[in-house]
Amino acid sequence: MEYKFSDRVSNLKPSAIREIFKYAADPSVVSLSAGNPSPDAFPTKEIAEISAKVLAEDPISVLQYSVSEGYAPLRKHLAEYMKKEHNTGSDNDDILITTGAQQIMDLCSKALVNEGEVVICEAPSFIGSLNTFRSYNAKLVGVPVEPDGMNTEKLEEALKANPNAKLIYTIPNFQNPSGVTMSLEKRKKVYELAKKYGVLIIEDNPYGDLRYSGEYVPNIKSLDTDGIVIYAGSFSKVISPGMRVAYTIAPKPIFQKLVVCKQGNDVHTNIWSQYVCDEFITKYDFNAHLARLREIYTKKASFCMELLDKYCAPKITYHKIDGGLFIWCDLPEDIDMPKFCRELVLKKVCVVPGNAFLTDENETCHSFRINFSTPTDEQLERGIKILGEYANSL
Ligand SMILES: Cc1ncc(COP(=O)(O)O)c(C=O)c1O
Repeated sequence: MEYKFSDRVSNLKPSAIREIFKYAADPSVVSLSAGNPSPDAFPTKEIAEISAKVLAEDPISVLQYSVSEGYAPLRKHLAEYMKKEHNTGSDNDDILITTGAQQIMDLCSKALVNEGEVVICEAPSFIGSLNTFRSYNAKLVGVPVEPDGMNTEKLEEALKANPNAKLIYTIPNFQNPSGVTMSLEKRKKVYELAKKYGVLIIEDNPYGDLRYSGEYVPNIKSLDTDGIVIYAGSFSKVISPGMRVAYTIAPKPIFQKLVVCKQGNDVHTNIWSQYVCDEFITKYDFNAHLARLREIYTKKASFCMELLDKYCAPKITYHKIDGGLFIWCDLPEDIDMPKFCRELVLKKVCVVPGNAFLTDENETCHSFRINFSTPTDEQLERGIKILGEYANSL
């Protein structure tokens, strides 16, 4: 049988990261390629307690079908929390619970982007979102990321050159994969440009709570007096990715369309997971939990950067981070980065080649991404030592 796939998906390739995960599954390989939370960052005891209680006392409430908008108490508590802590969301917005933030990109593409319309993304950007936009046949236009966020002159050029641009997709805090945080000045500029050119912004912020140093920068959504920002938050990096609970705060007319689109996707997000998240953020000390995560990751991030200084200089340089789970590393231009990453796997270390995160994967790239949250300290030291020794031998 010759399978004839739809135009939407026939050009889609398996994600380079998933391909690399095949090697990462080999226990003798040190994987610096994942983006998983550290095993000791999960509130397992609390999740077990909450689940046991509800299953004993009111099981049908979490086993029955539910509403597409999401578990009402969780929506209410999140809306209050985001307003109080981050001045994010207004009376003109509503909040939808989604199955991971990944689903927000899917619902926004479905609701807002026609085939061939442009989504402006940071270059590099999160591969999962890029692939979702691609699956709707959006045209991706990349705007380079600088140490203080996307280049706003290039953003304006992209907006001028693409009058059919629909969305600007940005990850302003501890960007995946570059680790960069956008300055407040640039956030304001991106907002102004979006307004000027009549384009919506998706602000994807799964790492915002994981700041280890530097000053808090307000969300772009907190500037949104014109109803042009769709905010994406997720519990994946602060409670559990397996529970698949995320949320979007969007202008009401967009929220309503996203709800209709979600009905066709998965009816609603797992109600049991939503219930557990709600109990955890309201009945336990969520801010103390976040502080504990920051403590775990501050140590791991500093350790990782010390190892990079110790083993990788001078051939590998890297960008210091203030938060998040990733460090972006650069090789000298005379080293073929994709070949370097392939050969590194044979030396039992796995990193993600940087071109996987570009809007055009065929563009030349001399960078790669490493993650420090998943490996143990012993694995980090072993992996980075091999990485540095190999780069410096070339
Ligand atoms: C920037 C970014 N957005 C979205 C996601 C998807 O997260 P979720 O598990 O909430 O679907 C990730 C996951 O790594 C991410 O890095």
